[in-house]
Amino acid sequence: MNKRIRKAVLPVAGLGTRFLPATKAVPKEMLTIVDRPIIQYVVDEARAAGIEHIVFVTGRNKHVIEDHFDVAYELEDTLKARNKTAALELLEKHRPQPGSTSFTRQQAPLGLGHAIWCARDIIGEEPFAILLPDVIIKSQVSCLKQMVDLYERTGGNVIAVEEVPEDHTHQYGIVELAEELSANASRISSMVEKPAPGTAPSNLMITGRYILQPQIFDLLSAQDKGAGGEIQLTDSMLTLMKDQPFASLKFEGRSYDCGSKAGFLSANIAFGMDDPKLVEELVPFMRDMIESPLAAE
Ligand code: G1P
Repeated sequence: MNKRIRKAVLPVAGLGTRFLPATKAVPKEMLTIVDRPIIQYVVDEARAAGIEHIVFVTGRNKHVIEDHFDVAYELEDTLKARNKTAALELLEKHRPQPGSTSFTRQQAPLGLGHAIWCARDIIGEEPFAILLPDVIIKSQVSCLKQMVDLYERTGGNVIAVEEVPEDHTHQYGIVELAEELSANASRISSMVEKPAPGTAPSNLMITGRYILQPQIFDLLSAQDKGAGGEIQLTDSMLTLMKDQPFASLKFEGRSYDCGSKAGFLSANIAFGMDDPKLVEELVPFMRDMIESPLAAE
């Protein structure tokens, strides 16, 4: 029996410079997609996969994330007094159980590998998930749940992958696949972080969802700097691959890179289209925008 995936790490220490000045006083993870902050989508995905404890690796000026996942006493008291039951239920539905979150700080921006390593004591000796909150995924079944289902069959380590255009591969971690394990899953034979243009082993990017064995922490603690002068998670995974199997999953669903403006706006449109009332207003508006001469200005 494979050990159950109970804990997830969400690295949220990044500065969000691509969204300045919006992110001067508000963490990028708190920017909203329709009516929920980005981070809420990621926490909801993790909880839908059975995750019981979420470790946020934060940085300075990120305390509002901690407040967001706490009880908002004054607000909820006022809502109760006004019999706003639906609003109260909504808050409750999205709130993790007491004691099921931890917050630790990455004290210096040394890279994703270093951020994950900061969670080592809280995770301990069990396999765990990582969700990068720049990426949100719209799918029928939570992307992480799809990965957990695969992990229950394969054990080891599992990484979500998806195709990107060839000329985008240098922006991501890229995997090389070996034999197929099942319809959407294959064994991974190699991976590289941000390969130089023209050198990528495939066009399959690492999407930002991982299930990893705890031995990754030993490798991360000894890790040298990699691509971009940062401690890279991909480099430690490549080393771990010498001892342990890694499987890729081409998940059902579509990812949105909310670290880019185009991805963030696309996510707002895509998730907005889930609400029939918004569709009624949005679709004619978008048609107008495209057809109107103003759109070209
Ligand atoms: C990180 C990972 C990379 C992955 C990407 C997905 O890169 O290092 O392997 O493909 O997230 O968004 P970053 O976007 O932090 O540069």
